[in-house]
Amino acid sequence: DALQAEIDAAPLASGDEAEAFRVRFLGRKAGAVTALFGKIGSVPPEARRAVGQKLNALRQSAEARLDEMQSAASGASAEATDLDLTLPGRIPAPLAPGSLHPLTQTLESIQDIFAQFGFAVARGPEIEDDWHNFSALNFPANHPARDMQDTFFLEPPAPEGRGIVLRTHTSPVQVRVMEEAVRSGGGPPIRVIAPGRVFRNEAVSFKSYFMFHQVEGLVIDEGVSFADLKAVIFAFARAFFGGEPKMRFRPSFFPFTEPSAEVDVWWEDESLPGGGRWLEILGCGMVDPNVLDSVGIDSERYTGYAFGMGVERMAQIRYDVDDIRLYYENDQRFLRQF
Ligand code: PHE
Repeated sequence: DALQAEIDAAPLASGDEAEAFRVRFLGRKAGAVTALFGKIGSVPPEARRAVGQKLNALRQSAEARLDEMQSAASGASAEATDLDLTLPGRIPAPLAPGSLHPLTQTLESIQDIFAQFGFAVARGPEIEDDWHNFSALNFPANHPARDMQDTFFLEPPAPEGRGIVLRTHTSPVQVRVMEEAVRSGGGPPIRVIAPGRVFRNEAVSFKSYFMFHQVEGLVIDEGVSFADLKAVIFAFARAFFGGEPKMRFRPSFFPFTEPSAEVDVWWEDESLPGGGRWLEILGCGMVDPNVLDSVGIDSERYTGYAFGMGVERMAQIRYDVDDIRLYYENDQRFLRQF
């Protein structure tokens, strides 16, 4: 009876356990059941029949467990062969490969064009100090020109004017690039663009958002003139818009350029009186000597120009999208079109 209990309880899940089970109970030499059969001669003849029956039952129950285990195993392997690993996967819906965001595409074409003109790419932090965002750019302390930019302050402006801000334009990268050139002893010539996000505390509407993108440009060398600036802007516009876009330079003001200008392109729209309207795409000008002085570049020897272009505006003209908020809603119906 003890042996029967052992047979019933022995673990029998793997091939190894099946073999151990067979050796232990049914093995020809050391099997426990086999050994009992060998002793049947010593049982008194009148009890032999009953003992024989009991031993047979014991052997059968051991064999039955082995059979059971083996057929279960072969059933599992039959099931396993139903799995065809060469079948293609089942895809719930056609995979949408996605596409580059229209602003990314616009930014990439702007960068490609300026790369052909020999401009390197520079980057600066989105969290800026007052010095780079304002002071070094010739914004006088506590001057209303600072309010021009609807600044987000992370740390309020201290009395000495050292607040921490979300940069309101990419122009602080101009300062960083010039500082680095001076620090590394290289100095001018400098010829870079600086793409990136900028932030302004403006009410959100179809035409303004609290964040947008600019591409800054900066060229510093001996003998750089306003004619060079115009030539680069016109060449860029021809490459970006194609053909001969209708453009104008309009006098403007920025603390860090003198003279300063804004550039508009003509947006054709038959439904408007006059057949279209002017759209501003960038601010620009000759780098103010005060800016060169503030970073330690010799303003007697060097001159330069700078520009700052609005990427959303360039995308609007290219794709005919007139609500800036669409770029940030991530609506698939909008994004799929690009
Ligand atoms: N930083 C200016 C702006 O945010 C644009 C600009 C850049 C103007 C460089 C002149 C030179 O509007």
